[in-house]
Formats: sequence, C-alpha cells, structure tokens
Amino acid sequence: MIVAKTIQELKDGYAAACPSAKKGLVPTMGALHEGHLSLISKAKEMCGFVTVSVFVNPTQFNNPEDFKTYPRTLEADCKLLEKAGADMVFAPSAEEIYPERDTRVFDFHGLDRYGEGPMRPGHFNGVAQIVTKLFDLNKPDCAFFGEKDYQQLAILKRIAKDYGYPIEIVPCPILRADDGLALSSRNKLLTPEQRKAAPHIFRTMSSSAEELARSGYSIPADEFISQLVGRINESPELECEYMEAVDAESLQKISDWNSSSSIRLWGAVYAGKVRLIDNIQIK
Ligand code: PAF
Repeated sequence: MIVAKTIQELKDGYAAACPSAKKGLVPTMGALHEGHLSLISKAKEMCGFVTVSVFVNPTQFNNPEDFKTYPRTLEADCKLLEKAGADMVFAPSAEEIYPERDTRVFDFHGLDRYGEGPMRPGHFNGVAQIVTKLFDLNKPDCAFFGEKDYQQLAILKRIAKDYGYPIEIVPCPILRADDGLALSSRNKLLTPEQRKAAPHIFRTMSSSAEELARSGYSIPADEFISQLVGRINESPELECEYMEAVDAESLQKISDWNSSSSIRLWGAVYAGKVRLIDNIQIK
C-alpha cells in the first residue's frame, strides 16, 4: 500500500502504480470503522485501484471544539486500510491542501436549506471545497460516500453534475452496531453511559416511523416530529437538536405526508458534547 502525504507523492504513487483499471476514491476523515471499511469493499468490488484519503478537513468544521476533538488515529487507520486492501492512502497536511485560504463558494440549489445546512453554517461549502480538490487531484472514475451523511451525498451528487466531473458517485448504506447505533467516528468520543443511551435515537426514529405507517400517515407531520423529539429526549443522556421529514430527492421539508412519495426522516442529537446524526427512509 502506497502512503502519500504530499500531492507530489500522490502523483508519484499514481505514476508508479500506473492503474489501467477503474480508479476508486474513498474520501474519509480517518478514525476508520466498519462503515468506512464497507465503502472500501464496495470500491474494491467496482474498481481495480482504490485510493482512500484521510484528512480532517478544517474548512467544514463550524465548531472549533469539534475540530480539535475530532479523533485522529492515522497509524491505526493505515493498518486497517492495508488489511482492507486499499492500494493507496492520501493523508496530507492542512498546509498541503490549503496553501492559501480557499475562497470558493458553492451553490447547492436549496439542498442545504434544511437539515445540517442551517445548523452548521459553512459546513457543506467546506465539504464541497475539499471533495472537489480531492476529485481534481485523484481524477477517480468512482467516488464512494455513506448514506449516513444523506444530505452530503445528495449535495456531492449535485456538485459532480453541476461542475461536470465524469465521476460516478456511489452511495453506500448506513452500517449500524448490533444495537442499532449508526457507526460514526464520533462514537469513539461517547462515555459508556452515552454509548448505552445512543441507540435510543435510531430505535425511536424507527418505532415512530412504523407507528406512522401503521396509522396510514394520519398523524400530522408537526405532531409526529414533536412526539418523536419528546421521546428521544426522554433519555437523560440525549438532547435532540432537530428532527425533520424531508422529500428524499429535493430535501425540502414536508408538512403534508401526501406531498411526497419518498420521504426521509433525519436529525441530530447531542449526547453530552458529542453530536450524532442519523436518518431513515420513512415512506
Ligand atoms: O463524510 C466525511 O467524512 C467528510 O465530510 C468527507 C466527505 C471525507 C469530506 O471531508
């Protein structure tokens, strides 16, 4: 496995390996878990040469404390990647990626209007900055992103289309622990009590959605959401920041279940200072 820490080393890596098969890119911020490994195995299935980037991208953090505490485990990550069969790891420094401030501003055509958009101002712009840089540097045929960041995935599909990147954006399903908690690098930051409480998020989202379907979607959307938030907050370890039902394509908020044929329920919940996100299809 080639480990490239600079852009030059990345270029040298591609030149030496001379991949003639399809090139896959799996962008990550490290602290790798089974969820990332499932992205890599999908990439290996579809591509002959797989590069994994490991970079905690400063421009997508709107909260400096979150950036500071984000887990960084490059050595362990490299061992996992070697075992997973990655061909190259790109783990640059922030100076390497941003020798100057990146001033590019992206238009997401309203896909950032709800969900994480208003909660984390500038977040998706930072994601688009780093991902387009990674696209330009790696020129992959396919790039792999998890559905856990459902809004990010939709935004990156749109960016790839708008900017004419000839890259197939491949969505990969959410991986969950046995108790239902969506796998996330931030789970490493949970205390044992918070970790015990965290599966309550997914369980409550799923059971509320089942109840809604059983009712024939007769519970009004705002009532459904406020009931759901109340149920999540029943756990003393959890504090819901937001829950929303959105059209799965346009990502616009739903106030009437009949207005859309495909609906996603998404939200963010704090367990202490750790912010967890999750989403499920509810119609
Ligand atoms: O999903 C992530 O881990 C990040 O947002 C990404 C896509 C690697 C960009 O930094």
